[in-house]
Amino acid sequence: MEPLTDPFGRLHDYMRISVTDRCNLRCIYCMPAEGMEFQPQDEILSYEEIAAVVESLAPAGLRKVRLTGGEPLVRKDLEKLVAMLSAIPGIEDISLTTNGMMLPAKAELLKEAGLSRVNISLDSLRQDRFSMITRGGEVSRVLKGIEAAQAAGLSPIKLNVVLMKGINDDEIKDFISLTLNRPLNVRFIEYMPIGSASDSWRQTYLPLETVLEACAEAGWETEEADMPSGNGPSQNRRIVGAKGTFGLIHPVSDHFCDNCNRLRLTADGHIKACLYWADEYPVRPLIGDPEAIRSQFRQALGNKPHNHEMALALEQKAQSHTPTARRMSQIG
Ligand code: GTP
Ligand code: 5AD
Ligand code: SF4
Repeated sequence: MEPLTDPFGRLHDYMRISVTDRCNLRCIYCMPAEGMEFQPQDEILSYEEIAAVVESLAPAGLRKVRLTGGEPLVRKDLEKLVAMLSAIPGIEDISLTTNGMMLPAKAELLKEAGLSRVNISLDSLRQDRFSMITRGGEVSRVLKGIEAAQAAGLSPIKLNVVLMKGINDDEIKDFISLTLNRPLNVRFIEYMPIGSASDSWRQTYLPLETVLEACAEAGWETEEADMPSGNGPSQNRRIVGAKGTFGLIHPVSDHFCDNCNRLRLTADGHIKACLYWADEYPVRPLIGDPEAIRSQFRQALGNKPHNHEMALALEQKAQSHTPTARRMSQIG
C-alpha cells in the first residue's frame, strides 16, 4: 500500500493523538487565565473510534503513536486505549506526553497495557514557581510521577522544560544536574507562539543558546549523545560522565520541518497535518470505512505546508497561511 507521504517527500509514520482537551493544570502558555470551554463529551472520539483510525493507517506505514491532551491521564481508563492500540499489527511504539501528576496511580497499569515510554512536562523544580506556571500544581506530585514511571520500567523518561525568559531560565543548571546521577533525558524547548502570538510570548521567548552558556558557566564539559529512542527533533548532549542526557528542541529558531514525520488527530476527530497552521480535515464521519479514512489523511498531507513560520511571528511579519486558533491544550 502507498505510504503516507506529502508533496515534499516526507514520510509520515508517527501520529500524535490528543485524547482530551481537558487538563488538571492550567499552564500559563497553554490555557488562558480565565480557563476554557471544554469540548462536549459527545464530540470527543471514543477509544474504539481512535483505534479504528489507527488501524486504518497501520497498513500505510503508521508505526508510532503518542497520546497527548490536554492531560491524557484525565481521560478515564486510558490504559484500555493503550491495550487496544498495542494489539494493532504494525504499531511498534506507544508513548505518552503527560504532566506526570497521575502517574503514581497509572504507571504500572499503562506499562502492563503496552505503553513503551513517557515524556513528562516539568517547567520548574521550585514549588512557588511551579505553582505559578501551572496555576496551582504541586511539583512533589510530578517528582513522584517520575519515580513511578521509572519503577514501572517506562523508559527512557524524558522531561520537557519549556524555557521562558525571566520565569525559569535561572534553573537550567538545576535541571541538567538531574541528569548527573539518573538516566533521564531533560529536553529544553523553545517557547512557541501557538494559539496566541501575544506580546507576552515575545517577551518570554528565549533561544536555547542560553542552555549551552549555562553549561559553560558551570564548568561542565559536554559531548554529543545518542538520541534516546524517539521520533522527535531533539539534539542531545551529555555532561561527560553523566548517567542521563539533555536535549535542545528548537521549534522556533531552527525549524526541523524538513524531516517532519508527524500527523495529528485532535480529540474531536480532526486531522492536523501541521501543528502550526489552521488547516484541518474531519475524520469522524469516515470511521467504518478504512479506505475513506486513508484518503482523508492523504488529502490532508497533500496540502501540508513545507514548514511553520514561527520566526516570522517573532519578527511580527505577515505569514503565508492562517495560524491555528487552537490552544496547545486542544492540539496535543
Ligand atoms: P519523542 O518521540 O520522545 O522524541 O517525542 P516528541 O518530542 O515528538 O514529543 P513531545 O510531546 O514530548 O513534544 C516535545 C516538544 O516538541 C513540544 O513541546 C513541542 O515544543 C515540540 N513539538 C511537538 N510536536 C511538534 C510539531 O509537530 N512541530 C514542532 N515544530 N514542534 C513540535
Ligand atoms: N511552546 C513550547 N512547548 C509547549 N508545550 C505546550 N505549549 C508549548 C509552547 N507554546 C509543551 C508542553 C508539553 C509538550 C507537548 O508541549 O510543555 O511538554
Ligand atoms: Fe512538522 Fe509543522 Fe511541526 Fe514543522 S511545524 S515539524 S511541518 S508539524
